Amino acid sequence: MVGIAIIGCGAITEHRHAPECHHNANINLCGFFDINQDRCREFAEQYSCKAYSTYEEVLNDPSVDGVIICTANRFHCEMTLQAFAHGKHVLCEKPIAVTLEEAESMIAAADKAEKYLMVAHNQRFEPLNRKIKEILDSGKMGRIISFRTIFSHGGPEGWSVEKSNATWFFNKKQAGLGALGDIGIHKADLIHWLINDDIKYITAKVLTLDKKTPDGELIGLDDNAICILESKSGIVGTLEASWTHYGKGYNETTLYCENGIIEANRYSDDPITLLMRDGSREVIRVEDCDSGMSAAFASCIINHRSPEVDGEEGKKALEIVLKCVESSKLNARVAL
Ligand SMILES: NC(=O)c1ccc[n+]([C@@H]2O[C@H](COP(=O)([O-])OP(=O)(O)OC[C@H]3O[C@@H](n4cnc5c(N)ncnc54)[C@H](O)[C@@H]3O)[C@@H](O)[C@H]2O)c1
Repeated sequence: MVGIAIIGCGAITEHRHAPECHHNANINLCGFFDINQDRCREFAEQYSCKAYSTYEEVLNDPSVDGVIICTANRFHCEMTLQAFAHGKHVLCEKPIAVTLEEAESMIAAADKAEKYLMVAHNQRFEPLNRKIKEILDSGKMGRIISFRTIFSHGGPEGWSVEKSNATWFFNKKQAGLGALGDIGIHKADLIHWLINDDIKYITAKVLTLDKKTPDGELIGLDDNAICILESKSGIVGTLEASWTHYGKGYNETTLYCENGIIEANRYSDDPITLLMRDGSREVIRVEDCDSGMSAAFASCIINHRSPEVDGEEGKKALEIVLKCVESSKLNARVAL
């Protein structure tokens, strides 16, 4: 049994980490911490565990083996470093951090403490994407030539506990990154894992088109990004992220391969479709399940096995996102 405490009692904790930890037989959910102590107490009551009054109190609790950090992006690095200094393992929500230097300091701290750092890039763990990886590895589709991937919705102000434009997601200091760092980063991680290749060049437009602060000013972060990614071996594709697709969200990846096309649509009843070069068509359905995040984290601790999405992988996804921003600012193709 692994003792886990959850830091930050917001939407992702409510919808994912708290219920998944609660239902996992390998996890003892020790408690919660949030600067909003009312919300912290509500979660602790609901899950019959402790409401910690400070982060220090969590880190000094010997029954806690690991923490799941679900706070605003800006705090990911600092809270991770503190956790390692107290000998705790860390599952950090994405993005790993808001700068590469921060990500590097987290990786170094994990090594020094000899503790695990896992980053919550859950799309890799989705049965849909596991299945696609299996199909690609089987060789059935042949070589990947190009791709298209998109993640979008109407914006975090409809998701975050602060259901207004006052959300921290629109605050540059607390979020550090906009739509690209919030949802595009999932696809940055997913695509380099699926194509089994590193991204080498990026050409991008990273824009603020519509989202406004409560004062009516455009937010100082991107709400749309359209990026061209080129891999080391020459696979080329697009990655799109948007917070302004009002009315419908997209969570789709299409891989154009030698022998046909793989279409993956997370929100469709036909989640995977193979459109073969000979004209045949195959629909593959997969069982949905929980995100697998806390289970994978607990399993690493129990089995002394490094996480599949470790700090280096988290940093890779962050680097893609930051290079997209750089490319857009320079109006140029940039190298990683
Ligand atoms: N993996 C995913 O699919 C996914 C989905 C959504 C959010 N996230 C990530 O999870 C994190 C949290 O997002 P959310 O949607 O739950 O946000 P949210 O706004 O709903 O909740 C954030 C919570 O963190 C608390 N908090 C903020 N700073 C804190 C601090 N310093 N100490 C303690 N508590 C603090 C807030 O009071 C709030 O309760 C973000 O990094 C976000 O990018 C990941």
